[in-house]
This record gives sequence, C-alpha cells and structure tokens, in this order.
Amino acid sequence: MKLSFVHCIIVTMPLLLALIYSCINAAGDDPILGFTEIPLNQSNFILQKPYDVPLDQRYSFIDGVHRMWVYADDKPYARGSNTQPRTEIHIAGLDYSSGVWQFEGHGFVPNGTTGATIAQIHGAAHGNTTLLLRVYAPGEMRYYSSLHVADGLYDRWFRLNIIHDVDGGMLTVFLDGEQKFQYHDQGPGDLHFKCGVYGAPANISYYMEARWRNIKIYRKY
Ligand SMILES: *[C@@H]1O[C@H](CO)[C@@H](O)[C@H](O)[C@H]1NC(C)=O
Ligand SMILES: *[C@@H]1O[C@H](CO)[C@@H](O)[C@H](O)[C@H]1NC(C)=O
Ligand SMILES: *[C@@H]1O[C@H](CO)[C@@H](O)[C@H](O)[C@H]1NC(C)=O
Ligand SMILES: *[C@@H]1O[C@H](CO)[C@@H](O)[C@H](O)[C@H]1NC(C)=O
Repeated sequence: MKLSFVHCIIVTMPLLLALIYSCINAAGDDPILGFTEIPLNQSNFILQKPYDVPLDQRYSFIDGVHRMWVYADDKPYARGSNTQPRTEIHIAGLDYSSGVWQFEGHGFVPNGTTGATIAQIHGAAHGNTTLLLRVYAPGEMRYYSSLHVADGLYDRWFRLNIIHDVDGGMLTVFLDGEQKFQYHDQGPGDLHFKCGVYGAPANISYYMEARWRNIKIYRKY
C-alpha cells in the first residue's frame, strides 16, 4: 500500500510539474519581450493641468509616484480650449508616426474616481486620439466610454502595457502582463502617449485621481 502510494507520487510528480509549467506559460509572454527600452529623462515628462492653478495643487511626485488629480469643474489645460479638465503627463520628444511602440506604467486609481481617462494615445489620422483608456465605477476599464477592457482596478496597483503597431494598425492592451483587449487604431498620425486623469465628456466623478510610477517607453526594431 505504502509502496504504491510512493510509486504513484513518483509517477505523477513530473506530470504535475508539467501542468504547473503550462499554466504559467498560458498566461503568455511578457509584453516587453522583443522590445527595446528608450531611456527617458525629465525633458520627456511635460505636465498639463488646469491653466489657472499652480502645478502643486494638482500634482505631486513623491518616492517615484506621480500623483495627479483634477476636479470636474476645473478649467481646461489651456485658456480658450473647450476640452475637459485634465492633469496629465505628456510623454514628449518621442512622437511617432510609424513602427511598433509600447507604453508601460504601474497605475493606481482610488475608489470613487469615475469617467477618467487614465492613459491615452494622442493623435490619429482623423480626430484627436487613437486610444483612451477610462476607468469607470466600480473599477472597470473601458476603451473610450463603451468597450470593456478589464475589471477590478480600484485601490490597487496594476501594470498597464499598451502596444501600438502603427504599421499593422493595431492596439493591444495588457493588464498585469495579460492581454485584455485588442482593437484597430485610427490610422497613422502625429502620435504620443499620455497618462494621468482627463475627464470624459459625461458621467464623471467630481474628484478624479490616478497615480503612475515606472513609466517606460519601448520600441520594437
Ligand atoms: C533627455 O532626453 C532627450 C530626448 O530624448 C535628449 O535629447 C537629451 O539629451 C536627454 N538629456 C539628458 C540630460 O540626458
Ligand atoms: C468603493 O466604495 C464603495 C462605496 O463606499 C463601496 O461600496 C465599494 O465596495 C468600494 N469598492 C472597492 C473595490 O473597494
Ligand atoms: C480636437 O482638438 C481640437 C484642438 O484642441 C479641439 O478644438 C476639438 O474640439 C477636438 N475634438 C474633439 C472631438 O475633442
Ligand atoms: C452615462 O451614463 C448613463 C447611465 O449609465 C448612460 O446611459 C449613458 O450612455 C452614459 N453616457 C456616456 C456619454 O457615457
């Protein structure tokens, strides 16, 4: 009896290990595999905030965390602009119009923030944006206001990767290393990545906040 139990363990152990290995592998390869990181410095981070308030009333940078917040009745980033209020980092100096590019960052959205774009690709062949990723209550991420991307994003750090294959016309969104969404882009244009908080046209909370750290840009050559 004892012998056959031990025998059983010896026989099943490799199978069990193979099963565990294939489960880990099924989660997919890391989205940055095959990409080259582009070094960023301070000149690549341009802050946009309501034009009539000082930056430190809508942004802090502590222990590597960019904390950005904005109120629904704030002014737009520029006088005369008709856009919704925002406090956003514009990744500058790395505009692209072809090739395969990737944004990576670790984000945190506090419970209660709703209708806020937390990451975007600005520019398109027609229109102003290629991708808006918004967080809506109860912690759902959507592509613009409707298409579902992921759930359960409130009050925790998540890793976001966005791959933009401009030549292939394709966007792919990963959360915590897992592919969650894929959609066609809006054609090549003068493109750049942004992250922070930017109010949607409707259904937004009065207070909106997002935190971002470890922001990185990659390219596939
Ligand atoms: C910062 O990055 C910019 C654009 O990528 C580059 O032109 C500049 O030389 C860099 N500055 C420093 C101090 O590394
Ligand atoms: C967010 O807050 C609401 C209201 O306080 C609560 O009902 C909900 O469970 C919270 N969600 C999370 C993910 O903590
Ligand atoms: C696109 O951007 C322009 C210039 O900022 C602005 O006037 C226009 O309203 C924007 N269009 C949309 C649909 O947001
Ligand atoms: C706002 O929310 C309401 C109720 O959930 C929904 O019917 C409407 O389509 C939303 N509007 C936008 C622009 O998202």
